[in-house]
Amino acid sequence: MHAATFTELTGPEAIDYQTVPDPEPGPGEAVVDVAAASLNRHDLFVLRGESAMSDTIDFPFVSGLDLAGVVDSVGPNVDSVAPGDRVVLCPNRTCGTCRFCRDGPENLCEQFGLFHGAFAEQACVSSDRLLPLPDDVDATTAATLPTAYMTAWHMLRRTDVTAGDRVFVPGATGNVGVAACQLIGALGAESIGSSGDSAKCDRLAAHADHVIEGRDPDVLRDAVTDIGPVDAVLNHLGGEYVQLGLDVLRRGGRMAVCGKTAGASAEIAVDDLYWDQYRLTGSTMGTQPDLERVLSLVASGAVEPVVDTTYDLAETATAFRRMENSDAFGSLVVTP
Ligand SMILES: NC(=O)c1ccc[n+]([C@@H]2O[C@H](COP(=O)([O-])OP(=O)(O)OC[C@H]3O[C@@H](n4cnc5c(N)ncnc54)[C@H](OP(=O)(O)O)[C@@H]3O)[C@@H](O)[C@H]2O)c1
Ligand SMILES: [Zn+2]
Repeated sequence: MHAATFTELTGPEAIDYQTVPDPEPGPGEAVVDVAAASLNRHDLFVLRGESAMSDTIDFPFVSGLDLAGVVDSVGPNVDSVAPGDRVVLCPNRTCGTCRFCRDGPENLCEQFGLFHGAFAEQACVSSDRLLPLPDDVDATTAATLPTAYMTAWHMLRRTDVTAGDRVFVPGATGNVGVAACQLIGALGAESIGSSGDSAKCDRLAAHADHVIEGRDPDVLRDAVTDIGPVDAVLNHLGGEYVQLGLDVLRRGGRMAVCGKTAGASAEIAVDDLYWDQYRLTGSTMGTQPDLERVLSLVASGAVEPVVDTTYDLAETATAFRRMENSDAFGSLVVTP
């Protein structure tokens, strides 16, 4: 089969379109014919050698967490899916035996990890991580869901967002950002999204209640404050946007941080944290039931993910350059 492989960890120029061995499903596994796979910034961090897993990679490496497609074959002891089933993958990898696997939430698993291998014609996956795809959800749409929507939904749960809350999403035009704004709306809450790009701001207006143009935290602080106090912040940027999030929260507000796009460390005013009694929490991925929930929101039409562009698998490097340039709105998807 063909795959888009990372041949070294530098940048998009190190992505090769090559032939790799066909996968064979082992016990409990299924091989899926990949119809669509979406890019996440995690893949870019891996490609640049900026991920915690960079030291453990063997080449050629097939990245890609999120895939949807059709089951081709199954290994022994698989009865949850059969060849021909349309599916989407939950990319969580868990040990199945630790206290969090037994008592939840599974994304706290002591050996939590992620599936990689979506940027290929076929992927060999754990069969119990495959969700049936409803007829009215196409594979390209489904491929946008696992990482971005599951993560955004889990952040909304971590911050107890409910109808009527006002929620700020700095950097709201990518995978997690658009997902967050749409899911905030689906909950009946009010979203504020920002972007440094005026064209992307125009597109964001269809998904967020308030749109602020800018990346400068000082500009964003003033603009959000003008809108009003914020109940929760969903923060995938990290860096200086962590203090910005605290600055715009109402007393007792909540912020979940899931990423480090704008910086892997942050300085915060400790006295703000305790005096205003903020709840600051980390959040990673979500649970398979979170993914089931967002899939049902999409199947019902309550949420409509945005795909910026689809690329042939052979054009995966071009898609990565788009992500590197931050000029996409919504998701970038490759279709083998
Ligand atoms: N912990 C987890 O489980 C988990 C899960 C999913 C994602 N994440 C993390 O969440 C982050 C977002 O992932 P994604 O796939 O949604 O990425 P993405 O699609 O590339 O995000 C694009 C957004 O990030 C903004 N942005 C990019 N670089 C920026 C910078 N230097 N300063 C400020 N804003 C910047 C863009 O702003 P403009 O609109 O101004 O261009 C845009 O709104 C990543 O750090 C990722 O690793 C973590
Ligand atoms: Zn576990």
